[in-house]
This record gives sequence, structure tokens and C-alpha cells, in this order.
Amino acid sequence: MPAMTVDWNSLSTRPGRLFDPAPRLPLVASAHGRYHSPMRFDYSDSNVELGLLYPSHLETVRTRHDEALDKAGAAHAVVFSGAPHPVFLDDTHYPFRCNAHFSAWAPLTRLPLSFVVHTPGEKPVLIYHQPKDYWHVVPGDPEGYWTAYFDIRIVHTLEDAVAELPEARNKCVLIGEVGEIGEIGETGDPAHAFGIERVNPATVLNSLHYARGVKTEYELACMRLASRRAAGGHLAAAAAFRNGAPEFEIHRAYCGAADHTDNELPYDNIVALNEHAAVLHYTNLDRKSPVPMRSFLIDAGAQVHAYAADITRSYSNGDPEYDALLGRVETLQRTIVGRVAAGVDFRDLHFDTHRLLAALLIDAGLARGSADSLLESGVTSVFLPHGLGHLLGIQVHDVGGHMADDNGATIETPAGHPYLRLTRVLVEDMVLTIEPGIYFIDMLLETLRGTPAEKQVDWKAVDRLRPFGGIRIEDNVRVLADGSENLTRDAFADLAG
Ligand code: GLY
Ligand code: MN
Ligand code: MN
Repeated sequence: MPAMTVDWNSLSTRPGRLFDPAPRLPLVASAHGRYHSPMRFDYSDSNVELGLLYPSHLETVRTRHDEALDKAGAAHAVVFSGAPHPVFLDDTHYPFRCNAHFSAWAPLTRLPLSFVVHTPGEKPVLIYHQPKDYWHVVPGDPEGYWTAYFDIRIVHTLEDAVAELPEARNKCVLIGEVGEIGEIGETGDPAHAFGIERVNPATVLNSLHYARGVKTEYELACMRLASRRAAGGHLAAAAAFRNGAPEFEIHRAYCGAADHTDNELPYDNIVALNEHAAVLHYTNLDRKSPVPMRSFLIDAGAQVHAYAADITRSYSNGDPEYDALLGRVETLQRTIVGRVAAGVDFRDLHFDTHRLLAALLIDAGLARGSADSLLESGVTSVFLPHGLGHLLGIQVHDVGGHMADDNGATIETPAGHPYLRLTRVLVEDMVLTIEPGIYFIDMLLETLRGTPAEKQVDWKAVDRLRPFGGIRIEDNVRVLADGSENLTRDAFADLAG
């Protein structure tokens, strides 16, 4: 089924249709020994797959909370979905972003002012806030494969929601964002934490965040879907680039094909033509096409039930020198993806990347000297100033990337590489990004002037490539015992049919 015809809305959580329909069809085992719907790429079956995988996911989430509560000596976890953030002096709100801890329990991303209450050994309680409001679309009635697993209590006011919380507040921990959260103060609760004193205790968060590095089968299924959703957007964006569209139009083509509004994207799309690709988080969307159109970098994601894809592709408009560089980065990226496996220290992969980049710079005529000398002088970090990748999941930069254990010990970033977001040893079923790049960033190149490293750079070659901005290639990769599953390339291959 082509991406354009997928009914993503049947999977997503828009107001008024917050949940998936109930499963209808059976599953078959896939090549990975995992379950997929029989017609793997017919996403109308996806709810079936998710419905079958969900119970075991929920069991994992429950067990993780049991352990966290045990460590904290608490009896109940109260997970707050969050509150809409009002704009200063206005009666409008910033887009609602649900607490990731809440969305981990059920496919609910648009349910503000609600709670999951977990008590070990008991059915989890969902305090489901369905306000009586004729100004806004309110959440519809709970429906879908997940509802049978909750004791759902529908309430219409925040006060009624709070009244459903466990009476023994001193035995609760609250997980969620509290404080300056709009109308919550009107409950008369001075702490704005619903009478719960233990708010986001480190013991609990460390335990949950460390565990969240490993994805359940259900989460992996959501992420495969998100990758497929994003890949459809990327194909449409590439076609728009080929047609000479400006950044704004490319972005709209992306959102149209991915069936996402801007606010539903897991992060602001980076749609960068020419030198704009040198701004790592470029989020302007120029309304006019540059002349000439040289290059295109797009870093754009998608989400399914909050589980994100985070994909970057770079395209050329035919310049042979830039084409050759693109080919080299592609080879480097695939090489590094090929080294992903359980037991690998991600810091080593990051350094491998810099070693390969040093050789690449020499081969491409951008730098001279030995690869070691380029690493030592910091030249590779000028061309690649961000980390190799990060954990991915219910947040695009998922939590726990620097954790050494579930007690709060951390693994620091290596000296000179402060932006490396993942320093852990990889374990099976982690999902992470592999996103090497090479950029021509004036500000960083300038730092080499007047240093011994200045002579290591071929400035003429650099100047020729500056107008192309940069290149990044980013895949989402699941760690296997002896290799990896590439969610991104699988998704593109699926679409190519
Ligand atoms: N899109 C943000 C990142 O790649 O980390
Ligand atoms: Mn990324
Ligand atoms: Mn990205």
C-alpha cells in the first residue's frame, strides 16, 4: 500500500479519536522471529499487531514500576499526563506534549490532566479526564485494544480527577511535570502536586529511565510504523526538492505525505537547502528557492503513539564533487551501522566514526596529514561537531543515554566530545540513531585559523564546498545480539516495494 493511502489517523491519537480500534486479524511470525501482520506493509493491520503485543508491553511497564516503587519505598506511582501550558497574557496554549511516562502506559498522547495510578498487584487505574467543554475538542470515550487492562474512571473536572487519587498521599510518588501549570492551582492545592510530596524522586526516575533504554516488542512495532510513516514523508520531500520547491513547500510535502501536522512531529523538521545545511538545527522555512539549488538536507521524523522516528537524508543536485562526498559519507554511515551489536560501547563507535571521518577528509582532499594527527588536532570535530547518535523512543532524544546503572551513576561524555548523547554499552533491543555527518560551519572553521591545524585543511576545497552546507545521514537502528535491524532502511525498502 503506498504511503499516501495509509490511514495514519486510525493509528494516531487525535482529539475525538484517541485510540485504535480493536484488533480483528491474526499475526504471523516475521524473519526476526517477531510478530508482524500477515500483509506486512498493509498498515490497516497494524492495530492487530499492536493489540497482540500490548499485553506483554504493559506487563513490562508494570514490572518496571514495581521495581521503582520498591526502591523508593512507596506504594503507588501516580503518573500525571501533564497540563496545557498557557501563553503569557493570552488565552491560548502551547501545543500539548504528553508526559512520556504517561504515554508509556497506553497509546494516549492527547489526554491532558489525567492520571495513571499503579499499585503493585492491582489493575492500573486510569483517571480519564473528559472535560465538558464546548470551546475545544474533548477526548472521546476510551476505546481500543488497551482498555480492558485498566480500571478506567472517567471524570469531567480536575477536582474529580484528584479525588480519585489514593488517599494515602504520603505513600505516593508523583511522576510528571508539576508547578506552573495553569489552572491546577485552582484546585487549592498549594504544592501544585495534588498533595503528593514526593515528586519525580530520583530513585524512581533513575530506575525507569535506565530500563526504558530497552524496547518492548510493542514499542518496536510502534517504531517500525513511525519509520514507515517518516519514510513516506522523506520520499515526498525528495520529490519536491527535485521539482525545485523552496524549503516551506518541501516541508508541506513532507507533512502531507506523513499525515502529520507540525505540532504532531516529534521535533521541528530541519529542511535545509544549500548552506542552510551547515546550521545543525536549522528550522527556518524559506519561502523562496535559492538559485542555484545545490544541495538538500532533511532531518524529519514521525511518531506513532509518541514513539518517534528520527531520519536524516542528504541529496545532491548533481555537482560531482559534492556527489562524491555524499557517497563517502553514505559508505561511512553504513560501515558504522554495520558495527552496531550488543556489547559494543557506543563511545567506541563514536571514535570509530571520527577515525573514518579523518580518512574520509584526506581521501576527499579536504585535509592533509595523517588520520591520527587530524584526530589529535580536533579537525574532525570541526567537521563533525555533534555526537554519533542517541537513544530513540517515546522521546526523540530518549532518556538514559548517559546512565551507567539504574541507581543514578553516569558515564560521562569523553573529553572533547560534550555533545555525545549516548555513552552506554549497547544491549539487545535498544533503539538508537546512527547519524554521522560532515559540515562546513564558518564559526567552527574559523577556530582553526592561526593554529597549527590550519595547515591541515585544504581551504580551497573547503571554500568550494561551503555553499553546500553539509551532509548528514541518519538511520534508526535496533540492537540485536550480533548485529542490528535497520528500521529506517527497511522502511524505505518497503516503500520501494
Ligand atoms: N533530529 C534531531 C537529531 O537528529 O538528533
Ligand atoms: Mn537524531
Ligand atoms: Mn535527526
